[in-house]
Amino acid sequence: MRITVIGTGYLGAVHAAGMASFGHDVMGVDVDAAKIDQLSRGLTPFFEPGLQDLLRENIAAGRLKFSTSLEEAAGFGDVHFICVGTPQSPNSTAADMRFVDAVVQGLAPHLKKPCLLVGKSTVPVGTAARLSEMAARLAPSGTQVNVAWNPEFLREGFAVEDTLHPDRLVIGVTSADDESILRDVYAPVLAAGTPFISTDLATAELVKVSANAFLATKISFINAIADICEAAGADIMPLAAALGHDSRIGSRFLAPGVGFGGGCLPKDIRAFMARAEELGVGESLDFLKSVDRINVSRPASAVDLARDMLGGSLMNRRVAVLGAAFKPNSDDVRDSQALKVAKALQAQGAHVRVHDPEAVDNARAVYPTLNYTHEADKAFEGAELTVHLTEWSQYRQLDPTRLLGLVTSPRILDARNTLDIDHWRSAGWTVRAMGRPSR
Ligand code: UGA
Repeated sequence: MRITVIGTGYLGAVHAAGMASFGHDVMGVDVDAAKIDQLSRGLTPFFEPGLQDLLRENIAAGRLKFSTSLEEAAGFGDVHFICVGTPQSPNSTAADMRFVDAVVQGLAPHLKKPCLLVGKSTVPVGTAARLSEMAARLAPSGTQVNVAWNPEFLREGFAVEDTLHPDRLVIGVTSADDESILRDVYAPVLAAGTPFISTDLATAELVKVSANAFLATKISFINAIADICEAAGADIMPLAAALGHDSRIGSRFLAPGVGFGGGCLPKDIRAFMARAEELGVGESLDFLKSVDRINVSRPASAVDLARDMLGGSLMNRRVAVLGAAFKPNSDDVRDSQALKVAKALQAQGAHVRVHDPEAVDNARAVYPTLNYTHEADKAFEGAELTVHLTEWSQYRQLDPTRLLGLVTSPRILDARNTLDIDHWRSAGWTVRAMGRPSR
């Protein structure tokens, strides 16, 4: 099939390469000419394990090319995937739909053959129906343009795996023909026995925001219990493990720490609440306000613990920060809790040096006034406190005994609860961890 993927960010670039690896002829499209130039040369504009190889393989096989032209895309594709961002609006908590709308506005007038527009971006429910009207209005008369919705569940850091082997496929369609087109698009995934749910447009849109709202709720739930543990002198780690053994609860997304960030969960729960308000059912999602509030307060809790560990003041204290990305295996710093903590430590007078294996350049672009280093050892040099904020696996490999020779004071705050704190303690470090008793 001839497929275009419009928007080549964290979602679209991987989707384009994935579609090509299924054997389709794919054109990735973006307004950012520099990004298109990079992708055309098989270079990834961001860090995503496995993406570079997938890109190169499919470019070399002649199945994947890139363009900045929606007109070219219109002439090329039978199926057009919309993968542009839906960030939080500048003036409200609703989703900013400008980029999605601009795709349809730019593409539809050039459509000269029947085609299917398939939304993958996370959108307020009702968007597909609205875009369908917009496309019908803007397309040349006589051109049949249908709209379907196919929410994406990929996780950054595992995006290639999630694209090639998703745990489910959800599509919202308005006709059996559209369903059959999408079955062809995803033939290899369906052949692997992947659960397939075909439903209406609104339900498909809602599946995505509901999934992210549930994940966010799980994280904030365990973080709220972590607060109770701290107050009661209990330990969140065995508690979470015990909960996780109940298969009705499950252990995933029950990792306590500094909370969730990234380009999805934080803005998606807010956009969901805003849309529910518009629909007159805002109260139904009232609990998400608490989910959001708990998460928003996590960085401040981490800073309070850090200050406490330094005897009540951060002024002129040297602090090593481990991690800037919103999660490991990504260089994405959007809404990163790690960076919020680093910034707040600095605002309270600390001299902060931030290390991250991949995200330093992106972090510097957002918060240029922080000190950064590409070498973990440099962050530790002279530190009176180390704060572990993004759970990269290399931080778990650190040797606490060797690091004693670099720091001024061996104190560490594990704000992700992934370090072996007994090991650090026995090496002579004072350790605190969010939701765990101090010893
Ligand atoms: C999330 C969803 O997991 C994907 O299914 C979805 O497709 C994607 O959003 C999206 O909407 O596009 P992602 O933003 O890549 O994926 O990140 P997650 O793996 O969900 O992690 C989100 C944040 O939660 C991270 O900051 C992570 O550190 C934090 N987290 C995760 C916790 O604090 N505790 C946990 O137990 C799990």
